[in-house]
Amino acid sequence: MTQIKEDIHWVGAVDWCIRNFHSYVTHRGSSYNSYLVVDEKVALIDFVRAPFAEEQVTRISEVIDPKKVNYIVANHAEPDHSGSIRRLLEACPNAEVIATERCINTLRKYYGDDIKATPIEKTPSLKLGKRSLTFVPVPMAHWPDSMVSYMPEEKLLFSNDAFGQHLASSGRFDDEVDEAELMQEASTYYANILMPLWRSISRALKALEGVQVEMIAPSHGIVWRKDPGKILAAYKGWVAGVSKQRAVVVYDTMWGSTQILARAIADGIASKGVDVKVHCLGTSPSSDVIADILEAKAVIVGSPTLNNHVFPTVAGFLAYMHGLKPVNKIGAAFGSYGWAGGAKKVVETEMLASGIQMVESDIDFVFKPNGDETKRAYAFGQMIGEKVLAV
Ligand code: FEO
Repeated sequence: MTQIKEDIHWVGAVDWCIRNFHSYVTHRGSSYNSYLVVDEKVALIDFVRAPFAEEQVTRISEVIDPKKVNYIVANHAEPDHSGSIRRLLEACPNAEVIATERCINTLRKYYGDDIKATPIEKTPSLKLGKRSLTFVPVPMAHWPDSMVSYMPEEKLLFSNDAFGQHLASSGRFDDEVDEAELMQEASTYYANILMPLWRSISRALKALEGVQVEMIAPSHGIVWRKDPGKILAAYKGWVAGVSKQRAVVVYDTMWGSTQILARAIADGIASKGVDVKVHCLGTSPSSDVIADILEAKAVIVGSPTLNNHVFPTVAGFLAYMHGLKPVNKIGAAFGSYGWAGGAKKVVETEMLASGIQMVESDIDFVFKPNGDETKRAYAFGQMIGEKVLAV
């Protein structure tokens, strides 16, 4: 059992085994955090994923008889936070569900029309005793139904998806886990979940500016108690599209030709002193590539032509990136082909549709690139490196 503050208990579940979170490869697992506030009234904040329902009920029972729970606050209806709702309502028959109207409608669509709930539009805050909760809608951070819950007496923000990380750990706080791992998972999470919603996140950050926050308790990963300012500052940079002098070269290859070009381009970029990350889509999951793209200035994508079209792994990556719409990037395409090309054009069109500012490229060669063509790819990389340094 863990108390994050006096009489505020963590009653969630750690998912050590999950490695695929709707196509996001979660190398370090995840957690579904839920918090139990014991005051004159008892409030439970958020549920857990369905397979962990019994574990959550057991954790609550170790603190208090679940029948004494007065309120269940649902900050968000996505099933990783609501999957245990049926079991929880059975265990806590006297609890009233509190959520946004949209969240209530979504919960009913998932779990049945008989879910009884009070919208925050009628109850924007709750007095629990010494402490209270204020509910603030933050639509599209992550779904239209999303809200955060703030406890002013403790300067404590229950932020749901925002500021979370897919990180399974025995420690519950930022000062109990490896800092580099924590920030890597926080940025990977932002890139793969929240990046396309940067406008909504930006609005939420602005709303927080006048609010005193000493602790942030998200619904995935650890609680920020040592330095909540660190994750707030990181989010401010990410929503603004602040980048490092970094480029990401991403490609797949059939018979090694596109790979020769990828390496030559990467070497050319690196020769200018720019940090380069190279990903072959035969081995790198798209979610790892996107994590590196978050703070990169340039994205260079290469594909062989297969049956007059883009290579399937590259097509999958482009679809993933299109949805996530990286902010404030330049990009270019390259490729190789046998007799008729086609892939490079598809890559360019799709990158443009992802909001990337494209640099013209003629790096597209028949069969295996010869020495002169490989030198051209290197020089192209140098030109990209200079552009990265110029911004
Ligand atoms: Fe962690 Fe949008 O659910």
